[in-house]
Amino acid sequence: MNTGKERLQKEFTKFPLIVKPVAEGSSKGVVSKSVCHSESELREVVREIVDKYQQPGLVEEYIAGREFTVGLLGEKRPKVLPPMEIVFLDKAERTPVYSFQHKLDWNDRIRYDVPANLDPGQLERLKVASRAAFMALGCRDVARRDFRMDEKGRFYFLECNPLPGLTPGWSDLVLIAQGGGMDYRTLIGEILSGAIRRYKEREQRKGGNGAPKSGYEERTTIAPTDALRIEAKA
Ligand SMILES: Nc1ncnc2c1ncn2[C@@H]1O[C@H](COP(=O)(O)OP(=O)(O)O)[C@@H](O)[C@H]1O
Ligand SMILES: [Mg+2]
Repeated sequence: MNTGKERLQKEFTKFPLIVKPVAEGSSKGVVSKSVCHSESELREVVREIVDKYQQPGLVEEYIAGREFTVGLLGEKRPKVLPPMEIVFLDKAERTPVYSFQHKLDWNDRIRYDVPANLDPGQLERLKVASRAAFMALGCRDVARRDFRMDEKGRFYFLECNPLPGLTPGWSDLVLIAQGGGMDYRTLIGEILSGAIRRYKEREQRKGGNGAPKSGYEERTTIAPTDALRIEAKA
């Protein structure tokens, strides 16, 4: 919705609905109030988003249920890392969202279960869906997808993060890797390996020997923790 005044499409008459800024990330603009239980609440939230973020509000059906995030690494047939569950600790929250505030105060509000406690069938379906979304969206080298699972065990794809945050000890993808036994350096190495291979192939096609140009070695000796200070938890 561009203003909050438009007519509601008929698929959006059943509440709760959730409204998010159409082009943000890291839960920017996603707060508990983003889950709307009436048309008047929905219109107000859209108006606030338009005012604050100067962009339309994206309206979606609110999917109640458990939340998972899945990291993938690679290219043609990406490796799917063990899914992580975002467990909301405050059981009094009836329509929880992994909001901006939750991402800041995650120690108090969230428990991260990695690997997620899913049965083998659910795990397989989540992996297949994650890989299919990675390929359909043309992702490369790294991505993270967010899902919810309803009470019937159906997975809903919420979004794709093609450039997920990589803050050591904090970003979801880093926690996923840690939980799967992959340290930070290895994670960064896996993300870079496709680019290094493509670089070498390109150099070879151009007639070079594939050796990196001068200065390259020097740059790669910078510890990933220094090189990648990405503050957003995306
Ligand atoms: N359709 C939805 N149903 C239920 N919860 C949602 C829905 N869309 C988003 N959320 C909640 O809001 C959070 C942030 O939304 P998301 O689409 O992942 O954007 P961001 O890029 O800001 O992470 C999600 O992790 C989830 O908890
Ligand atoms: Mg998200």
